[in-house]
Amino acid sequence: MKTIFKNIKQLVQVREETLKPLRGSEMKELPIIDNAWLLVEDGKIADFGKMQDLPSFEGVSEVDASGKFLLPGWIDSHTHLVYAGNREQEFIDRINGLTYEEIAEKGGGIVNSAIKLQETSEEELYLQSARRLEEVMKMGTTAIEIKSGYGLTTAAELKMLRVIKKLKENYKLPVKATFLGAHAIPPEYKNDKDGYLDLLVNEMIPKVAEEGLAEYVDIFCEKGYFSVEDTHRVLEAGQKYGLRPKIHVNQFNAISGIKAAVAHNALSVDHLEVMEPDDLDALEDSGTMPVALPSCSLFLGIPYSPARQILDAGLPLALATDYNPGSTPNGNMNLVISLACIKMKMNPEEAINAATINAAYAMDILDTHGSITKGKAANLILTEEIPSYGFMPYSFGANHIHSVYINGKNV
Ligand code: NIG
Ligand code: FE
Repeated sequence: MKTIFKNIKQLVQVREETLKPLRGSEMKELPIIDNAWLLVEDGKIADFGKMQDLPSFEGVSEVDASGKFLLPGWIDSHTHLVYAGNREQEFIDRINGLTYEEIAEKGGGIVNSAIKLQETSEEELYLQSARRLEEVMKMGTTAIEIKSGYGLTTAAELKMLRVIKKLKENYKLPVKATFLGAHAIPPEYKNDKDGYLDLLVNEMIPKVAEEGLAEYVDIFCEKGYFSVEDTHRVLEAGQKYGLRPKIHVNQFNAISGIKAAVAHNALSVDHLEVMEPDDLDALEDSGTMPVALPSCSLFLGIPYSPARQILDAGLPLALATDYNPGSTPNGNMNLVISLACIKMKMNPEEAINAATINAAYAMDILDTHGSITKGKAANLILTEEIPSYGFMPYSFGANHIHSVYINGKNV
């Protein structure tokens, strides 16, 4: 099965190889080929070049991409896409003056979603989640990480992870699962956080690993949730079972959680709305990817991650949606890229690199996804006819996507 895209206005993010993520000033470069063709064979990028050098191919189906741009699909390395119901009431409460933290203190927030999820059957949870997955795929997401963390009991956490597993089986895009049992302290353990952590370490993590339900382990390292000491404990327990850390940290307060994550060789540290010089230092010379989630900042009205500081320190940066019912009920990577440009002062080139190559690193799929490279999966975005790739973030709120391909198939 072969498909040829012809007359592509620009083929974007063309790389011979991608061995490492892009850091600091490297993120300014976005290699392109003008007036290009690209051949897909057996779901992979087989070849590409300039139209003037187009070889003749037999038995191929053709796509005329005149006026259009072809890019690698977006990679969303941080979501909570599996959840039950919504938290519209908390949205109204925040409009009327309560903060995200005050709502959580009153028993709302993550615990509210956990109660809803515990009451929802696995089948229904799958249907709600699959609908959201299809929605984001149409908006250009062609690889996704999904977390547990709205279960907060062994049974409900396993239920969430089984739903993620089923999504993985039924959809063709890469899906990675993260165990986030340490997302909040459930009400039953309100005055016994260590008791909950005992359960998490002694029962949940071994079961998750035994059933092969997750690749990564996460914790919400934050005042009022889990401490740096708790973070060491959970990450160590996860690592013992082969789960690499990817953690929530520095959302509201900088409490040295990044240093702890790096000490456990975390694949990524995510949120980073509040960053101290020590946090930047901790990331230097590490294999840990900083991940910013600007739609969360938009929705909660909290600071945006200081991208310029992170890049000026020579660090890499990835972008993700954080799609979840509480802080970011939106899974649109196009909006994330726009916000990164508008609010975090990233150039379109930097934002596109952050949503493709660096995001692939943050999901451990850089060898197969995230760029236009021979042999990589043909997970692609074909835009509408637009004047430039920078028009996508510029005209925020619109997607300008004509079609999305996963392994060469139009979704
Ligand atoms: O990444 N901050 C922690 N967890 C989620 C939000 C969870 C919720 O409010 O339901 C986040 O923003
Ligand atoms: Fe999150």
